[in-house]
Amino acid sequence: MADNFRFHCPVKIVSGTTALEKLPSEFKQLNAKRPLIVTDPGVSGAGLLDLINSTFTDSDITVAVTYDRVPADSPLSSILEIVELYHQHACDSFLAVGGGSAIDTAKAANIKVTDRDIDLMHFKSVLRMNKTTQPLIAIPTTAGTGSEVTSAAVISNPDKGIKLSLINPQIPPNTAIIDPRMTATLPPGLTASTGMDALTHAVEACIGTQKNPISDAYAGSAIRLIARNLVEVVQNGGNLEARLSMANAATMAGIAFSNSMVGMVHALGHATGAVCHIPHGIAMSLYLADTLEFNLDTVSGFLGDLLPEWVGIEETAGTPVADRPTRFIEGIRQMRRKLNQLCQLPLTLREMGVTEDKLEEIARIAITDGAAYYNRKKFNEADALTVIRRVYAA
Ligand SMILES: NC(=O)c1ccc[n+]([C@@H]2O[C@H](COP(=O)([O-])OP(=O)(O)OC[C@H]3O[C@@H](n4cnc5c(N)ncnc54)[C@H](O)[C@@H]3O)[C@@H](O)[C@H]2O)c1
Ligand SMILES: [Fe+2]
Repeated sequence: MADNFRFHCPVKIVSGTTALEKLPSEFKQLNAKRPLIVTDPGVSGAGLLDLINSTFTDSDITVAVTYDRVPADSPLSSILEIVELYHQHACDSFLAVGGGSAIDTAKAANIKVTDRDIDLMHFKSVLRMNKTTQPLIAIPTTAGTGSEVTSAAVISNPDKGIKLSLINPQIPPNTAIIDPRMTATLPPGLTASTGMDALTHAVEACIGTQKNPISDAYAGSAIRLIARNLVEVVQNGGNLEARLSMANAATMAGIAFSNSMVGMVHALGHATGAVCHIPHGIAMSLYLADTLEFNLDTVSGFLGDLLPEWVGIEETAGTPVADRPTRFIEGIRQMRRKLNQLCQLPLTLREMGVTEDKLEEIARIAITDGAAYYNRKKFNEADALTVIRRVYAA
């Protein structure tokens, strides 16, 4: 537990089964009338923009222009195109509709619109910029990254093979609108993998060196909601109550981890994404249980404390204290197996097409990842390789 800590979440959250209808009034409160919509082809193809545009009928908000071509991982080229459109169409705000890729693209475009001299790719992490950004409202359509509430934007330059996190207090959206109609169209495989990302944020927030009582509260609630709803939304995507629970959980996990940071699972996942281009949520799902096992000697007390969130008070009471940490990890494995049965969520790196000759490179990169720094148990390249090999052919 961090003895001294700061906790910060500057984002207003508007959540519920009719939250979307609040969109015009939220723009009005931000004194914005001409938003630029940032989204991607999957989201617009699912018809979600029709719902959003219909909320502006009878309001004085006009969508100035829509950019619906954001590719995965928020590349710089899209960000720069959006900045041009923003100026050409005299926009005064952003509306990001999508998963982490669309939201992060909008966040980065907002920084560049605010300070056109900034070279986004120049920064390794903390971006020095203190001008006030343009109003930004985010509507997440995946229940995963929590980007709607974080101060980070993960962007990429595929031409140079670079992916980096920009961090700045001006980056978080002003408002996040959480509406289950926005995630109801997410197919089962993406629902499962992005949900496992949210679970990993919450679990790593509870065991890392920066954990604190406030982040624990958000993360613990997120874990409880994910344990009860992730399998259900994969099986029955139209269950709006369960979708709302997952969406709230992902947002809470985002608030938790952006304050208490993530650790070894993310370090391994980032490195695997960089070397083998595996989607982030799938990497999280692959590494979570085995990484917890590697960390067990330093985090067993914290994992034992999380068991009631996972299985409820009754089963926890019937589980000897010494067995609770491993029961928690086994619960995650059970969920992963269930998701594998339901939507073929991969169980090994090998299934994802990763070849054995890449494993050492993943380990080498993982130990230099920023998230490794916040892992309670220090690990070296050999430790990382041990976990990666286990996950390769589990
Ligand atoms: N800023 C942060 O704090 C943060 C944290 C973690 C990850 N990230 C970044 O977020 C990105 C990943 O985001 P993601 O996992 O949300 O995936 P994503 O935004 O890349 O979307 C994945 C796919 O799902 C589709 N999709 C999304 N919502 C849909 C819906 N409702 N219906 C149908 N299809 C839909 C999209 O079209 C896309 O093809 C990565 O670049 C990652 O690095 C950012
Ligand atoms: Fe993540």
